[in-house]
Amino acid sequence: MTGVRVAVPAKINLSLRVGPLRPDGFHDLSTIFQAVSLIDEITVAPGDPGTGRTIVVRGERVDGVPVDDRNLAARAALALGRLAGFADPDVRIEIDKAIPVAGGMAGGSADAAATLVACRRLWNVDVDDEVLHDLAAELGSDVPFSLLGGTARGTGRGEQLVPILDGGQWHWVVALDEGELSTPAVFAECDRLRASGHVEQASGDGESAMGSEDALIAALRSGSPDELAPLLVNDLQPAALALRPSLATTLAVGDELGALAGIVSGSGPTCVFLAADRDHAIGLAAELAGTGRVRGVRHAVGPVRGAHLVT
Ligand code: C5P
Repeated sequence: MTGVRVAVPAKINLSLRVGPLRPDGFHDLSTIFQAVSLIDEITVAPGDPGTGRTIVVRGERVDGVPVDDRNLAARAALALGRLAGFADPDVRIEIDKAIPVAGGMAGGSADAAATLVACRRLWNVDVDDEVLHDLAAELGSDVPFSLLGGTARGTGRGEQLVPILDGGQWHWVVALDEGELSTPAVFAECDRLRASGHVEQASGDGESAMGSEDALIAALRSGSPDELAPLLVNDLQPAALALRPSLATTLAVGDELGALAGIVSGSGPTCVFLAADRDHAIGLAAELAGTGRVRGVRHAVGPVRGAHLVT
């Protein structure tokens, strides 16, 4: 298909601190995002008149991905169309997925961000990145970061972003899981574990409850994997492990095989392991794949750039 093509990366959360449930159903977060080299490609082209959004998704495990206006990419096209003054745009959106579906790596958010960038070009919509960011934030908490890429601190729902100086080239081994986890279910389990006293939540509001990320930011600046490794943290991990206990084994296996650190990515069930360098990552990925305990293994490097045109 000729059209406008955009590449967009997956994200991992190097640190994900979750505050209390807000009245609007979201949680305040303090997180450090990093964009990594698992890349979805989105191609948009004009659709036949009257066909609305036509979505084609290719890749592993895409059967459950909606191909109608429930798809976040379609909602992104609708949102940008509305802004440009047309309510029911006819657009064909092809999505080639390398980001694991429902894996906690913001795959759906990435596709939405890419669609915003692609449709802005396709329709020549005269809006700047700030406007695109605001549209992105309305679509989902992770969509703005998928636009921005690199390494950034996220607060609010995760949509308020400040880029972070990152001196490293970090090598990650990504362990794909057989299952899927729903993000709302994992947040709800996190609340439940806290309410039942199984998992503590620091008292206080906002940032004071979520701790400081200064050490992690310094480690990122240093570029040293040994400094970064002990600082990786994910408040959603106990909830993801409660809902999918086999992830504890995955993390233990990565540890035994010599990963510098391992965490559940976002709401899971994908797990990510930090390696010392490229060779270490490739060796670790091969060994982890050899155990047969995970559905698949990928080597990813970060940080990489956010959603960008490739045509
Ligand atoms: O923003 P997004 O649509 O990605 O969020 C999906 C769900 O994840 C929300 O409906 C909410 O249940 C949960 N969530 C949350 N707090 C956040 C982000 C997401 O509780 N900061």
